[in-house]
Amino acid sequence: MCGIVGYIGKEQAAPLLLEGLSKLEYRGYDSAGLAIHNGTDVEISKCKGRLKVLSDLTEGGAAMQGSLGIGHTRWATHGAPSDTNSHPHINANSSIAVVHNGIIENYLKIKNRLLEKGYEFQSQTDTEVVVQLLDSYYKGDALAAIAKVMTKLDGSYALGIVFKDRPEELFAVRKDSPLIVGVSETGKFIASDVPAILKQTRDVYYLENGEIVRLTRNEVNFYNSDLEPIEKEMKTVQWDISAAEKGGYKHFMLKEIHEQPKAVRDTINPRIRNNDIVIDELNMSEEDIKNLKKIFIVACGSAYHVGMTGKYVIEDLARIPVEVDMASEFRYRNPILEEGTLTIIISQSGETADSLAALREAKEKGVKVLGIINVVGSSIAREADNVMYTWAGPEIAVATTKAYSTQLAAMYLLAMHFAKVRGTISGEQFDHMLQDLRRIPDQIQSILDNGVSKLQYIASHYVAVKDSFFIGRGVDYTTALEGSLKLKEISYIHSEAFPAGELKHGPIALIEEGTLVAALLTQEDLYKKTISNMVEVQSRGARVLAITNEGNEEAAKVSEMAIYIPNTDKHFTTSLSVIPLQLLSYYVAVGKGFDVDKPRNLAKSVTVE
Ligand code: AGP
Ligand code: GLU
Repeated sequence: MCGIVGYIGKEQAAPLLLEGLSKLEYRGYDSAGLAIHNGTDVEISKCKGRLKVLSDLTEGGAAMQGSLGIGHTRWATHGAPSDTNSHPHINANSSIAVVHNGIIENYLKIKNRLLEKGYEFQSQTDTEVVVQLLDSYYKGDALAAIAKVMTKLDGSYALGIVFKDRPEELFAVRKDSPLIVGVSETGKFIASDVPAILKQTRDVYYLENGEIVRLTRNEVNFYNSDLEPIEKEMKTVQWDISAAEKGGYKHFMLKEIHEQPKAVRDTINPRIRNNDIVIDELNMSEEDIKNLKKIFIVACGSAYHVGMTGKYVIEDLARIPVEVDMASEFRYRNPILEEGTLTIIISQSGETADSLAALREAKEKGVKVLGIINVVGSSIAREADNVMYTWAGPEIAVATTKAYSTQLAAMYLLAMHFAKVRGTISGEQFDHMLQDLRRIPDQIQSILDNGVSKLQYIASHYVAVKDSFFIGRGVDYTTALEGSLKLKEISYIHSEAFPAGELKHGPIALIEEGTLVAALLTQEDLYKKTISNMVEVQSRGARVLAITNEGNEEAAKVSEMAIYIPNTDKHFTTSLSVIPLQLLSYYVAVGKGFDVDKPRNLAKSVTVE
């Protein structure tokens, strides 16, 4: 998920790699490392912490002599940040070194097979299976070994590989994690992103899924996964460094919105095996799940909204009572936590002070805590009894988008898993839902592919709005909460969310000419009810924007504009309807000229009460 840089050429590799890695620091990382071929051996230096620590360790790279090497900044997904878990990883006789970005979904299966064959593992990472597999297949033909390894790996990977007995070659391959090849006067580079090599060259090749590249000091050879040589077109990067950091997007928030299909896929796919949901890290037996009497979901902000969605979905599917609390309230209200209760803490950063205090409160009262966390090794991850990681990758924009979406996915997985074990849904319903769950990443992609210009247009109509309300019923209410928070966070437009049926109990008094009311209607059985509420506000002057399922023409009739989302299981609609709301907030904020990535008064991680 983080950064790879590799070099082969005329210059000393280590200083170049350190410099390249420093240009990827903005992406966030927890450890760093280098492997340098010194002509005879492959030397490794790696450590937990900032690049500065690695730089000091290697005297700015001067302590590692050689003009072929690979470097890495790690954003841990499997195994806490530590010196040992840092990349590069190397085989037992130090003849193959590998750096990896991404997630090997089937690493446990591969690891067990390799353990049976007598391989020993040093780290807890998924990555180490790659180097051990290479070791087992490498019989002198590097390309053949790499291609064979690729056939064994499920998941996402960009790999940089150096062999001790090949001091003149650098190899790389990718699938679903980015990797580029750069060519300069003095050498050849691989990198996970353009900024890493922009100072050296603007001439790059973009590696496609399944392609392998072999770099020597004089040549660049590309191959497909059948090892047939292929031609690729060299591109010249036009971006400046700031645009390059954002992958060409204007803001990190927009980049992260577009990363959602991959983030959600990375969170869901590793937990689906043989048409079943397997959440190894849950550490709950079927008996434990059957004995669950109550679930508390505790979180802050957007993560709290995910908890709200979780309540609707878990209660409906698994028939377990769920209470959702804001962490800042939970910790001081002396909650009743009895045997048979599971507390779930949701947090992107894993460092939110209120959520951490809530976790401690729950543990003190003797109930088990499950963390749904994005940052591996964070405080909440360390203190929770069990952790289910969301694999969103580093999130930089203050307003969360991709982490929120992966948290939703985690909720669905849990709800379906609990429901299946408890026998509260039929096998047929489970299979059907699983199909829909797997389609979510593609459906998000299709909203992004087809909806952006329409959302830009819609946003331009609402830039001048002063007050806004987001309404919905059932899970739509929980999406309304998130849509409303997004808008207020980055565009500073006053915004509130209400269950649609609650409007007439007070809030409707605030509706006046020009108030924006975004109405969510994705629950077919509740369409009519919400439409009545839309009519109520429209007749009082509100400008109504409908977000609804494809085919619901009725909603368009009572709104100024309508946005349609693809059809999915009714429990999963938040994952799709939130996307246009994120884009709407983004384009309204851009239209108002605000700094979207760093909204006023807000911090990415709230480590104070
Ligand atoms: C969302 O856009 C926010 N910036 C904020 O509500 C955030 O979700 C909240 O502070 C919780 O953070 P956490 O997930 O890191 O615990
Ligand atoms: N999954 C790998 C690990 O945890 C790679 C992480 C990364 O992309 O930085 O070590």
